[in-house]
Amino acid sequence: MRTIIKNGLIVNESTVFPGDILIEKGIIREIGQGLSDPDAQEIDAAGKYVLPGAVDVHTHMDLQAGPNRAVDDFYTGTVAAACGGTTTIVDHMAFGPKDCSLWHQVEEYHRLADGKAVIDYGFHGVIQHVNDEILQQMGEIAEKEGITSFKVYLTYDFKIADGDLYQVLKQAKKDGLVIAVHCENDGVVNYLRSYYKSQGMVTPVYHAKSRPGRCEAEAVSRMIHLAAMADDAPLYIVHLSCGDSLAEVRKARAQHQKGLGVETCTQYLTLTEKCYEDPAEGLKAIMSPPLRTQRDCEELWAGIQDKSIDTIATDHCPFNFGVEKQLGRNDFTACPNGAPGVEERLPVIYSEGVAKGRISISDMVRVLCAEPSRMYGLYPKKGVIQPGADGDIVIFDPKREKTITHDALHSAVDYTCYEGLKVQGAIDLVMQRGNVIVKDNEFLGQKGDGQYLKRGKSILAE
Ligand code: URP
Ligand code: ZN
Repeated sequence: MRTIIKNGLIVNESTVFPGDILIEKGIIREIGQGLSDPDAQEIDAAGKYVLPGAVDVHTHMDLQAGPNRAVDDFYTGTVAAACGGTTTIVDHMAFGPKDCSLWHQVEEYHRLADGKAVIDYGFHGVIQHVNDEILQQMGEIAEKEGITSFKVYLTYDFKIADGDLYQVLKQAKKDGLVIAVHCENDGVVNYLRSYYKSQGMVTPVYHAKSRPGRCEAEAVSRMIHLAAMADDAPLYIVHLSCGDSLAEVRKARAQHQKGLGVETCTQYLTLTEKCYEDPAEGLKAIMSPPLRTQRDCEELWAGIQDKSIDTIATDHCPFNFGVEKQLGRNDFTACPNGAPGVEERLPVIYSEGVAKGRISISDMVRVLCAEPSRMYGLYPKKGVIQPGADGDIVIFDPKREKTITHDALHSAVDYTCYEGLKVQGAIDLVMQRGNVIVKDNEFLGQKGDGQYLKRGKSILAE
């Protein structure tokens, strides 16, 4: 089947130009002016932006977190992603049973996602303890499964100690793999959580107070130094949330540290600690790291402009406000950490970033499409509009205005952190490998049509 998208303004990370796109058998074959083909279906994109399908490299579909399970599985979560213009995800696995092999969660995640996902998907592995077997399995899994990145946590139950982190980084450097890391100083966070709880300070605002920006910045700095000691091992910092952490990144970049990738998320750019002021509503925004100040948001936007920050992801990890989040009603430490956002990302970043003049439309494509693909070995199949790339396309109307409301979203969760936010611009249509999967906010794709992506080498490992 052939499709021509005509008369749109095609946006890549460094170019914006009017043109037509011919997609055949799921692949972009030709880009030019005045393309025509009597056998092709035509889609008119006059007056619209034509963007690469967005890539979200930080989601948690069907995540088991302690006693709670995220409420989006790989079907509902990827339908929501698709309706928000995201055509590829790379999902972070939950921890498996104590002492399990690195393969355990790989097999579990295929069971969870295969036959359910409606967009293309890959997985990051998760390292929850370190020994010779685990270090060896990293390379095996990369080779057999195309899982070329592994996540470590500096906090939570399966946090990794510095000596083990160093070994993991050395192994990653040797095998050409990326280590993604959740950076927070576990000791201080745990002390503060216990302290506030002992004082009866248990409302959501104390969630933020127990995880200050300096706790993140210290851990970011530690990881950067450990990666430098491991010969500039490929290191990707997930969900960077504040100016103090960004200062550590800038220091490393000024010292020309190689192999360093940095992600922030929609919420750290657009929401603040004010979300915690209402003790009931504040539960919706309990996530780690927590939301910060308006000044932090502006610093992160500046970090995107100067390319200190490479990607914007979502950390989509939804729990129902009416159910799981209520566990934290009388004690923020009992509230499951995480919030939805996979569907809101592109519209919110366009409106708050591009329409408000903080970044250009090409910057947006760089951080939502091209860089996430490069960071995780998907480029140039994903994240770019050029011949040979997958026909993953978003047609975006910059003139439409919308108000974000939960009832127009597609996730299984019962709220959005952006309720009532007026956004400039709206998605008209989304294509995956040449098939229209979303039109006028209606999902038209098929369960299980998402393809598992064996990923290649990250640009961080080159
Ligand atoms: O609060 C969050 N971010 N929950 C998801 C798990 C994680 O820490 O990334
Ligand atoms: Zn996460």
